[in-house]
Amino acid sequence: LKSQPTVFVIFGGTGDLNARKLAPALYNLYLEGWLPEQFALIGTGRTKLTDEEFQGRMLKDINEFSRSGKVADDKWAGFGPRVHYQAADVQNAETYKDFASRIKELEKEWKAPANVIYYLAVAPNFFPIIAENLAKAGLTTDAERTRIVIEKPFGHDLESAKELNLLLGRIFQEKQIYRIDHYLGKETVQNIMAFRFANAIMEPLWNRNSIEHVQISVTEQLGVGERTGYYDGSGALRDMIQNHLLQLLCIVAMEPPISFSAEEVRNRKVDVLRAMRRFTPESVREQAVRGQYGAGWLEGAQVPGYREEPGANPQSNTETFAAVKFFIDNWRWQGVPFYLRTGKRLHRSASVITIQFKDVPHFIFPPETADTMRQNRLVISIQPEMSIRLQVQAKRPGVEMMLNTVDMVFDYKGTYVAQAPEAYETLLLDVMLGDQTLFMRGDQVEEAWDLVMPIVTSWQNRVSQNFPNYSADSWGPEVAEALIAKDGFHWFTLP
Ligand code: BG6
Repeated sequence: LKSQPTVFVIFGGTGDLNARKLAPALYNLYLEGWLPEQFALIGTGRTKLTDEEFQGRMLKDINEFSRSGKVADDKWAGFGPRVHYQAADVQNAETYKDFASRIKELEKEWKAPANVIYYLAVAPNFFPIIAENLAKAGLTTDAERTRIVIEKPFGHDLESAKELNLLLGRIFQEKQIYRIDHYLGKETVQNIMAFRFANAIMEPLWNRNSIEHVQISVTEQLGVGERTGYYDGSGALRDMIQNHLLQLLCIVAMEPPISFSAEEVRNRKVDVLRAMRRFTPESVREQAVRGQYGAGWLEGAQVPGYREEPGANPQSNTETFAAVKFFIDNWRWQGVPFYLRTGKRLHRSASVITIQFKDVPHFIFPPETADTMRQNRLVISIQPEMSIRLQVQAKRPGVEMMLNTVDMVFDYKGTYVAQAPEAYETLLLDVMLGDQTLFMRGDQVEEAWDLVMPIVTSWQNRVSQNFPNYSADSWGPEVAEALIAKDGFHWFTLP
């Protein structure tokens, strides 16, 4: 990569995603020596700015949001001048001629052709027009050198996702299209694959014979806040389950790929989605529940209910919490429920996958010696804690035989000194390297939409009569507890 000249064009350069994630990620890649020698970033936006003004904004954003802290002057002297700005009206075809000439100038300066990455950090309604205008300006013809990165949401239902795939497919080859799901870039998420497929002891247990059920829980304290404009047309199911949580499920449930290459990994993941049991209107009612937060107190502050957030619809039927029970109809997983839940304004922010194993076939100790929860669990904490714990039974010290649940722990903090990179650092580097392993292929996105569409439709058609049904600082609505309790389980929370 070092010797491959690269131009990184960010549509939506003046937006929030660039400020919080992309700019800090690219800067950190620079700091750690990953960027090509010949690298230029071109930010675009409607605002008229000079290169210097845009560099000033980026510096401010990086200082505020980068994990590496305040930017040192000598480091900025190396990175800042690589940042350019081009005011652009993305609807106007003329704009793209300006890009073409900017890129030509850089190539002339570098005396070499460049790889060009178009990053669409804009509202999804601009995806088609930008792709089409890039094509019209002849900027997409080199399939080896041109790549496009699409942020979520990739469609808002199955139809729109298919349309977008078709449109992109007319302009780009699949190998040029990088559909981002930033969860896949998280260090702890990538580690699940290492844990499953680089260790011999897990695989024999990783199936319906030993596993009773699986939970994937992504809870957030954050409310929707200023994002109601986007969120009200989306909701927790589309915003989180269709993408992030189902991607986690795929990594937990996939068959071992024959190699760690993009196509092999993505084939095995899409197999999981294809094997997932489809919903009927009846099973939606039995297996999917939703919630919306009301006002309350969280971490000592008073917080508004969803319907009182700025710009929110006071009668909104949008869910800010969703819990769904899924099944995978294949040999490995037949009959094993996968419970997924996510929500905003909950008691704690934590992304945790819990694999609950079956009980021992015959318990030889007197019942009173046992811990109330004696089944083994594997608890994979994605964030903020980064760890894997295996919960096992052990003898409590003492003259009596009494059993206790104890943790065998692998903890990032205790094991490694180096800070883990942000998901976007890994993902942006992979785009530059041309590695699609951690990106979603078109068919995966469509399968995931196909799976959740009956729930989307059913919830749209049935106005919830009891919203808001959970208060800030809770673990969500009672129906979510009932969903799992009727199978004899309960949601696992880290102590
Ligand atoms: C985004 C969702 O994709 O993921 C947000 O749109 C959500 O609603 C966010 O808050 C969560 O990401 P993370 O990395 O903070 O867990």
